[in-house]
Formats: sequence, structure tokens, C-alpha cells
Amino acid sequence: MTKKTILVVGGAGYIGSHTCKALAARGYTPVTFDNLVYGHEWAVKWGPLITGDIEDRAALDAVFTGHDIAGVIHFAAYCYVGESVEAPGKYYRNNVAGTLTLLEAMRDHGVAPIVFSSTCAVYGAPKAIPMAETHPQWPVNPYGWSKFMVERMLEDFGRAHGTRHCALRYFNAAGGDPDGEIGEAHDPETHLIPLVLRAAREPDKPITVFGTDYDTPDGTCIRDYIHVCDLADAHIRALDYLADNASLAVNLGTGTGNSVREIIEAAREVTGAPIEPEYGARRPGDPSRLVADRTLAGQALGWEPRYQDIHETIEHAWRWMTR
Ligand SMILES: NC(=O)c1ccc[n+]([C@@H]2O[C@H](COP(=O)([O-])OP(=O)(O)OC[C@H]3O[C@@H](n4cnc5c(N)ncnc54)[C@H](O)[C@@H]3O)[C@@H](O)[C@H]2O)c1
Repeated sequence: MTKKTILVVGGAGYIGSHTCKALAARGYTPVTFDNLVYGHEWAVKWGPLITGDIEDRAALDAVFTGHDIAGVIHFAAYCYVGESVEAPGKYYRNNVAGTLTLLEAMRDHGVAPIVFSSTCAVYGAPKAIPMAETHPQWPVNPYGWSKFMVERMLEDFGRAHGTRHCALRYFNAAGGDPDGEIGEAHDPETHLIPLVLRAAREPDKPITVFGTDYDTPDGTCIRDYIHVCDLADAHIRALDYLADNASLAVNLGTGTGNSVREIIEAAREVTGAPIEPEYGARRPGDPSRLVADRTLAGQALGWEPRYQDIHETIEHAWRWMTR
């Protein structure tokens, strides 16, 4: 694909804003479309911001008519797993119906391809570790199902209308821009690394470790933390890939995992703070390990994570938090 304008839907959010920076560095013009419900105006620095909602078909039509869009990267979604259990309609409406509106607009304006933010939550409870793309899919919450359904829609639109897509199934996004220009700023924050770093700064807000009796070397859950800039890089590779290749769903993770205790210890080393956690019971539905098999991303996209030392990832998150 020649260097063109890319519509970044949800580009004012955490992963979207880092991807906009990476797009601009490679000569693309990122146009962000975001309703700013969770995104931040300050995070949109590398191209224009259009404030709008993917459920608003007229707003999408205006974007596709007003810009020569060569492809779409779609981050916009609600992402709180617990909330999705309490309020499934909110998730199916925004994540599924909103994406359907986007896909129909793309179809009618002849825009392709699309790179979609999927998640390891499409697999549900792990039956094998590491998890390959061929792992059975049976999500355990409405958030995961909403992403599963979008992947299904993408396949059907591809068959019927020729829309090419790449579904990127991220494991746990982490870290921040090494230059410290942007970083993770979720509200509420539910991700482990920013919560551990908050505990480093504010000892009166300790981190709770949920479960210490898992079948792991130190008894705490293991997750695959992938640096947000490595995710950003993969999106651009996916766009390039789709110029000449068929649709694809691919995992994005480091292929190794870190336990909760390892994250806390690494955060102690990075911050110099003692970080004394509290210990709680297991949370229902938390598997002991979630680790990606990233072989396919290497083969198809030529992608390999640059940041594989968790200390460096935490250091970048800390740099942002203490900027
Ligand atoms: N952060 C992770 O660890 C992780 C892991 C797996 C998958 N994902 C997926 O990656 C994507 C980005 O995650 P993030 O952490 O950057 O989240 P985020 O909340 O920071 O970014 C999402 C952005 O989408 C926008 N948005 C939401 N609904 C919208 C709508 N209807 N119209 C327009 N804009 C809308 C929000 O305002 C926000 O700026 C999400 O789709 C999420 O499900 C994230």
C-alpha cells in the first residue's frame, strides 16, 4: 500500500494513539475518529481528530466522503470485562452494532482493508498453553463474545463484499511511548501494571493480588504483556500485508508470560518503591495462565516484539506516569 490516509477509529485511546504515532513516523496520515468517551483529545497529535460515534452512520459517511481513506484501523470498543457481564447490551450495541455500522459504511464507500482490535478473550478458558490461533473459541464473557462476533462479521463481509481484514488478537497491552509523549490513561484503570505503578506512588492505594494458590511457579496468575509500541508496529505490518494477501486473524503477544509477583518485583526495581501488596481470594473466571503462541504473526507479518524485557515495558509506563 502506498503511504496514504488511514482512518483510525478509536485513535484517541491508549493503543490507538500509539498507533497514530507509528503511522505518522512511517509517512501515513492518521485521521482519528473517536467519540472521546474514553479517549483523550491530548493524545491525538499526529493528524486530525474528528469527534464522532461509530453508531452515527451520517458522521461516518461524512468522513469517507471528505477524506481519501486508504484503510481503516478499528480500535473503538468498550473494554471492561466485568462491566460487560453487568451490562451486556451496552457492549453488544457499541462493539458489535457500532462495528456493523462502520463495516456497512466502508462497504458502501468502497473502502478496504480493515485492521481490527481483537483479543485473546475470543478463546475463553485456555485448553493449551501457549494459545495458537487454532485454539477453540468459546468466550467466557460478553466482551469476549462481542469481539468474537465482530470477527465473524468481518469474515462474512469479506466473503460477500470482498472486504479484507486482519483481526489482531492482543494479549495484555502494556507500557507506553518510550519518548514519554503518550501513555496509558484509562479511567477507571483495571490493568495490572498501571495499578502496581500507582501503588508505588501512592502506598495508601495498594495493589491486591487475587489468588496465590494457582498452579504456577509462584502461585500467582501469569499473563502475556505485550508492549503497546509492538502492537502499533503490528498494525502497520497488517495494513501492508493486506495490500497483497487474504484476510487473517493473528495473535499478538510476546510468547512468554509474567506472574503477578514478577510484575510487582520488576516494578519495585524500576521505581525503587517497596510496593507492599494486599492478598485476596481468586477472582472467578481468572485462568492461571494466558500466553500467546506468536508463530503466525512472525510468519505472516514478519512481526517480532522488540520489547521482551518486562522491566523495559514497565520503565516506559513509569516514565509516562511520572512525566
Ligand atoms: N488494552 C488491552 O490490553 C487490550 C487487550 C486486547 C484487546 N484490546 C482492544 O483494543 C482496543 C483498544 O484498547 P485500548 O486499551 O486502547 O482502549 P481505549 O478505551 O483506550 O480506546 C478505545 C477508544 O475507542 C473510543 N470509542 C469507544 N467507543 C466508541 C464509539 N462508539 N465511537 C467512537 N469511538 C469510540 C474510546 O473513546 C477510546 O478512545 C479495544 O477495542 C480493546 O477491546 C485491548
